Amino acid sequence: MSKEVLLNGHFIPYEEASVSIDDRGFQFAEGIYEVFRVYNGHPFQLERHMRRMRASAGALGLELDDVLAKLAEQSLQLLGRSGLKEAAVYMQVTSGHSPRAHLRPVALEPTTLAIVNPASPPSAEVTEKGITAITVSDERWAKCYAKTTMLLPNAAAKRRAHAAGCDEALFVRDGFLMEASASNAFVVIDGVLTTAPASNYILHGVTRAVVLDLARELSLSCVEAPIPAEKIPSAEEMFTTGTTTEILPVVVVDGKTIGTGTPSWSWTARPLAPAPRGRSPGGCWKPTGLRSRRSRLPSQIRKASRNEFASYTRR
Ligand SMILES: Cc1ncc(COP(=O)(O)O)c(C=O)c1O
Repeated sequence: MSKEVLLNGHFIPYEEASVSIDDRGFQFAEGIYEVFRVYNGHPFQLERHMRRMRASAGALGLELDDVLAKLAEQSLQLLGRSGLKEAAVYMQVTSGHSPRAHLRPVALEPTTLAIVNPASPPSAEVTEKGITAITVSDERWAKCYAKTTMLLPNAAAKRRAHAAGCDEALFVRDGFLMEASASNAFVVIDGVLTTAPASNYILHGVTRAVVLDLARELSLSCVEAPIPAEKIPSAEEMFTTGTTTEILPVVVVDGKTIGTGTPSWSWTARPLAPAPRGRSPGGCWKPTGLRSRRSRLPSQIRKASRNEFASYTRR
């Protein structure tokens, strides 16, 4: 049977799916999307993805609550019809189609799309070796928390990374590390797991939130705090987080080795640091009793995240 997609509420063969050349997604990138993972047939963190999709719609001035609720339901039906147990489900909504004009007509019928693909998690080789990255200037707009189809700066950054022989690009804005071109970024500096605050300049990653939850559960010292780009080379560890890429160690940035240069979960012995004075804890700082413990941050996170994924497979 040929692959099916969901387009505007209809399950149709992939080859037959088409949208109008007047679609505002095509003409103006007036579209939002989400990708959620399915582990052993169970959608992972779907509620968080849908919450973010509603926020993305709000950022584009679109009132889509009912449309999104229906799309989520129909995407799950599409998943069921695909028979895939390990999958990535892509959902997209644009504001709809009308003759090209900057001003969006009111009451347009949104275009909705869902596609289910087999999951392609990172290979064991990549997770064992780690990835390399370059830093690039963040030239995106000021609503990066919205997951829109306007991915030109992200795609260009990725291209630059590949042209430089690297895997990923890290966005730096005003001297601070924001995130990667298609994932969030974490560093360990002085034993503290740190990620950029959930401002409007980063996508509020679902995997990022899961990692922060796990760090809290494990009583690891972690903060959501600005990361000066100049501090990246002195990080003991670094990793990126994303729905399809999960947790990937970063071992080289701008040609400089991070930590030991081998994936950070082999890095083990360093006392956790005391809470920095005056720094906002970001809700996950747990200084009590931590100073004497030895840190294995990514290995613990990775193990915990595996348990987290596994808990979905058991349901
Ligand atoms: C720019 C950017 N940041 C972060 C992420 C990670 O978000 P999530 O963990 O929700 O997949 C993505 C994922 O596509 C992304 O494109």
